[in-house]
Parts: sequence; structure tokens; C-alpha cells
Amino acid sequence: MVAMRVLFVCLGNICRSPTAEAVMRRLVRDAGLEDEIAIDSAGTSSWHIGKAPDARSTAAARARGIELAGAARQVTNADLEDFDLVIAMDRQNAAELLMLARGEARDKVWLLRQFDPEAVATGDLDVPDPYYGGDGGFEHVLDVVERACRGLLEHIEDLRRVRQ
Ligand code: 4NP
Repeated sequence: MVAMRVLFVCLGNICRSPTAEAVMRRLVRDAGLEDEIAIDSAGTSSWHIGKAPDARSTAAARARGIELAGAARQVTNADLEDFDLVIAMDRQNAAELLMLARGEARDKVWLLRQFDPEAVATGDLDVPDPYYGGDGGFEHVLDVVERACRGLLEHIEDLRRVRQ
């Protein structure tokens, strides 16, 4: 039974959030939790609706054995109701989500790097937008996302233990 629904959100839903979605899917599968944790991604903008993930993100992930998938979609009000955790890639994304979220749904909105203790210690909580930069930016996104997703999975496993 799906016990936890996680939505990753960036601006375009073609670089960072599909990367986080695929990295998290891998971690969740490796932990044997794929039937319990549902994962999706969306963008705050409508700019790339229907498009496949960015070819540069896809290539960088593939080099690490991770396949990006899906078509970009825009986050909706219903997402804020339907998902348990809505994980923004940067503070701008989080601000947009908090404008959509009402009442208790506001408590679902997190920054991905809040789950990386090193990032919390330095206060550098954004996953930087790689879209207009060089290829190094896509490697950096993967490094940052892999670390934070490990922390996110630990957080979810803690929640499951509390709820059991
Ligand atoms: P993402 O990256 O938010 O990580 O998917 C971007 C994709 C597209 C644009 C900006 C960021 N854009 O300006 O079109």
C-alpha cells in the first residue's frame, strides 16, 4: 500500500525535479520500498509542459546509471492536497508553492536540501538552476540531489517507524 506520496518541484520540470524523481526512485527501489513510496515531479511554470527531461540532465544521469523519464507538467492545487511531501528545489520554487498551499498543506512544503545536514550547516539550501550554465552544473545537481535524497529517504523511514 502506498503510505507516502512525494512530489519534487522545480521551475521547468525538465532538469532538477526529474533528476530528483529518478534518483529517489532508485534509492526507494534499492530499499525495497517502491510499493510504499510514490514519487512524481512537476514545475511551477507552464513553460515546458509535455516536454521530456532536458537532454543534458538525461545524459548526466545516464552516466551514473540513472534514467530520467516522464513529461513535464505544471504543479496544481490538487497536488498540494494529494501529496504528503512537496519538495522544492530552491527557495523561489518553495515561495511559489506556498502561494498555492492553503492551511495544513503549507506544512508539506520543504526544500530538498533541508534533508542534507551539510547544506543545513552551511545555509546553502538551493539546488542551483543548471539550465543556462555549462555541463558542470548538471553534475553538481546530481551530486547535491543524491546527497539530499539519501537524507530524505532516512526522514521518510523515520516517519514510517513513528506511524507503524
Ligand atoms: P528546472 O530548470 O527548473 O530545473 O527544470 C529550468 C528549465 C527551464 C528554464 C529554467 C530552469 N527556463 O528558463 O526555460
